[in-house]
Amino acid sequence: MKIFICVKRFYTSSNLWFDLKAGLLICLLVIMVVLPCGGVAAKAIRDESKPQTGAADTPALKGRYQSFFPVGNVISPRDLGGPRFEMLQKHFAVLTAENAMKPLYIQGNPGVFTFETADKLVDAVLKAGMKMHGHTLTWHQQSPEWINKEGMGRDEAIENLTTHAKTVAAHFRGRVVSWDVLNEAIIDNPPNPEDWRASLRQSPWYKTIGPEYIEIVFKAAREADPDAKLYYNDYNMDNRNKALAVFNMVKEINEQNPNAGGRPLIDGIGIQGHYRTKTNPENVANTLERFISLGVEVSITELDVQSGYNSTLSEAQLLEQGIAYARLFALFKKYAAVLGRVTMWGLDDGTSWLTQTSPALFDRNLQPKPAFWGALDPASFLAENEGRLADFKNEPLQAQAHYGAPALDIADPLWQSAPPIRINQYIMAWQGAQGSARVLWDEQHLYALITVTNAELNKANRSPHEQDSVEIFLDEGNHKSSYMQDDDGQYRVNFDNERSFNPSPIAAGFESRVFVSDKSYTVVVKIPFRTIEPKEDTLIGFDLQINGASAQGIRQSIAVWNDITGSAWQDPSCYGLLKLVK
Ligand code: XIL
Repeated sequence: MKIFICVKRFYTSSNLWFDLKAGLLICLLVIMVVLPCGGVAAKAIRDESKPQTGAADTPALKGRYQSFFPVGNVISPRDLGGPRFEMLQKHFAVLTAENAMKPLYIQGNPGVFTFETADKLVDAVLKAGMKMHGHTLTWHQQSPEWINKEGMGRDEAIENLTTHAKTVAAHFRGRVVSWDVLNEAIIDNPPNPEDWRASLRQSPWYKTIGPEYIEIVFKAAREADPDAKLYYNDYNMDNRNKALAVFNMVKEINEQNPNAGGRPLIDGIGIQGHYRTKTNPENVANTLERFISLGVEVSITELDVQSGYNSTLSEAQLLEQGIAYARLFALFKKYAAVLGRVTMWGLDDGTSWLTQTSPALFDRNLQPKPAFWGALDPASFLAENEGRLADFKNEPLQAQAHYGAPALDIADPLWQSAPPIRINQYIMAWQGAQGSARVLWDEQHLYALITVTNAELNKANRSPHEQDSVEIFLDEGNHKSSYMQDDDGQYRVNFDNERSFNPSPIAAGFESRVFVSDKSYTVVVKIPFRTIEPKEDTLIGFDLQINGASAQGIRQSIAVWNDITGSAWQDPSCYGLLKLVK
């Protein structure tokens, strides 16, 4: 079925622009787009009345936000000079070196500090009247191995940590306004966020020094550059548990160091903001509130919003992305008084670190996308376009579980009484393992049989989700909350019948068996209901995922039944629905 609709304005720039061009708006042919989720039809739209102006004619983002907060972006050597630099200068007030200040590039070899690239960037940025933010003094990624290698003595590790932090912070003193002193120290979705030490990533610094490394590096940075604002920076902060662990960490460290050079040791928390179009702004708001209550500065430090796959965006995906950006910037405006800055991570889709999922404000030809107009003028973009979201909304898929208690055995014919559920929507570019499931229920348990085909059968990775494995998501009460509540759970079984659970207590009473043959395996599970008494026609929140590992032991594909956002692990509102029938 093809649908023709009359399209008003898709790209919302400014009222002025609209006034000038309103007379030129025309109705256009619209082609139906089948969204990846459940084959729900959406209308593709295109507005050819939008002038194909270069970025030169677009309003300046930083000008629009002048009275709210500085808007930033990243810079790399390729941006020096030419149109890219002009765009950075026009739209952004503060820049972060995308890579040049990371430990690997500054001190790849012991004691040999190479500042040339970073210096060039800083000089150009300051000369052009922009400010510079430092990123990052401590991280488990992009750091040289020698600096904290396994088996190194604690004193030597502390020496390496402080020497690096002090030398680098002192070098850029007076030229950077702030530093990400520490990047990504907290694990994802920590089960016990009240205990922030138990929530720390087992990184090389943690292993060689222990949790004290955090205070040590912040103190070193303060000493070397007392004027720079010192930040803790992390991703997935819209996850409640992660935000809570960060909150507890910063709170305790600042309580213990209330007067580190005249002020608390940690000045700010950076919310990286690597989002997807389905990221719930409510969760972002909750985290902002939580951090602000600490009295620290809060910044959005690495904003991008992924949409589409394989470097292509349908018109629907462009619109969804524009709306996601508009909602986020509307939220940031609300919190402007307490936001230090909002920094984008990447000028355009072509050079973004997540280029496959086109997350930037400008496209591969440096043209503004709906995302740009949404960020520029959230209120009018939403007024113009939000109503259309209904056209693009994906209803969750619904499947049936039939009544009966099968044996935990592939051979039990009872499985065949339940209809198959296909797990074949890929949410990474690679199309690897996929499968199909059948689900049964009785008053105490949910039973599932999941057959996976086209798998490489690899479990070399220490992270269970990177191994060949299946995952079952349950929201027993079907509350569709945007964070994990007591009735929610994620159950994972790999092809070797090794299990992992989120949160861990849901393991109680869980049973599973796995039957392997060549490149396929079948998992059968028996999951006790924990919080409901299921009856005929009960609807529960439910989803299925298959993780496909490569021969190198890295997850290369994710196939799902319903949730194409990839956030089921933390957001039950994305689950599909399972109806218990008799
Ligand atoms: C990324 C850069 O954008 C890439 O060019 C590089 O290859 C890897 O690192 N969180 C961070 C950033 O704090 O430093 C990362 O930047 C993206 C995730």
